[in-house]
Amino acid sequence: MPGPLRSLMLSRLTIPIIQAPMLGATTEAIAIAVSNAGGLGSFAAAGSSPEQIKTSVEKIRAATRQPFAVNIFVLDPAEPDPAVVRAAMDLLAPWRERYGLPPQSIPNTWAQNTAAQIDAIIESAPPAASFTFGCLAPEQVSRLKAAGIYVIGTATTVAEAKAWEAAGADAICAQGIEAGGHRGTFLADIHASAIGTLSLVSTICAAVEAPVIAAGGITTGEAVAAALMLGADAVQVGTAYLLAEEAVTPEPQRQAILDAPDDPTRLTRAISGRYARGIDNEFMRAMRLNEDSIAPYPVQNALTGELRAAALKAGSTDVASLWAGQSVKLARPGKAADITMNLWRQAQAVMRARTTRFGAVVGVTPNARRMGSNHYRGPHTFQEYGGEE
Ligand SMILES: Cc1cc2nc3c(=O)[nH]c(=O)nc-3n(C[C@H](O)[C@H](O)[C@H](O)COP(=O)(O)O)c2cc1C
Repeated sequence: MPGPLRSLMLSRLTIPIIQAPMLGATTEAIAIAVSNAGGLGSFAAAGSSPEQIKTSVEKIRAATRQPFAVNIFVLDPAEPDPAVVRAAMDLLAPWRERYGLPPQSIPNTWAQNTAAQIDAIIESAPPAASFTFGCLAPEQVSRLKAAGIYVIGTATTVAEAKAWEAAGADAICAQGIEAGGHRGTFLADIHASAIGTLSLVSTICAAVEAPVIAAGGITTGEAVAAALMLGADAVQVGTAYLLAEEAVTPEPQRQAILDAPDDPTRLTRAISGRYARGIDNEFMRAMRLNEDSIAPYPVQNALTGELRAAALKAGSTDVASLWAGQSVKLARPGKAADITMNLWRQAQAVMRARTTRFGAVVGVTPNARRMGSNHYRGPHTFQEYGGEE
């Protein structure tokens, strides 16, 4: 993709809504549906081998002429201390017994190899690629861009956004603490990185020149409008797609979403070894006391994989990863294309209504940052807003 098109990619989307990559809940089908509807579909490829990535990219490319993204995790190869692995396995043993599983054996591999996955992405050259859990080296970003790929880096703090910008990313996905699934955090600890979407988008927009994508808690048209008003160029929406027809969200998880009580989510590292947000369940509650002695990602993730699958197969959500954001109670079933178009129609209606009500004083064109310079910071004085003394 030539330079000018690259910087304009987000503002050229018919609908500035990115369907979040969601490992375990999304496949090629939902990415195709959202891209064909005018948004940006994402394929969650973190669990895919390099060969599988190439196959998936071809499958999506064959089904849409619109841009789409592929997403992976940025991981160093895991070399866990055997004592840590043993302790983690001991903690899991009673849960395995509950689901009739034999004693655990140590997996052959802990996770896919990030470098090999990046090579496969470069070879298959999807229009966009997004990354979380770490920051790529500038040389890796350059290779992706040289292959015409639009590079999106996930940040949960301003420092992480600056790191991605310094590495050469085309856009920054600002993931607020409301977000469902894993935290993308890679610089500070969880407490220093627990920033709400409102503050995170505002502070990242003020700190970097790259386009910003707002993520976390965006489940309604009102929230889409709010994020764009803050200066985001697009939004990344995950939880709102969990009940989509094309999502492969396991049935017990769908039911847990439909039955969710008020304020149902918690952060936990019990399931994967990396903090993630999901609907609270028995396993998360029981492991809270051991939170600090859990093996790090991806070790714990690999160790709990078989157990989580067995529990879901038995129709139970006791031990499942029920990843979902803080606004999960607002998720609704439907076709992914309808969810995308309804969010956007609702957002546009909200922006029109707000401008009618407040526009006489405010005078700010909704979405002005997208329409004009990427560096739009908005008026700051009453006069600049168009007010008279
Ligand atoms: C079930 C689930 C799985 C997720 N898997 C991924 C993933 O594979 N890669 C990724 O970058 N983000 C992943 N996320 C995080 C999303 O990219 C995004 O930050 C989040 O969904 C936004 O917040 P929301 O869920 O409130 O919309 C996942 C989120 C959920 C809910």
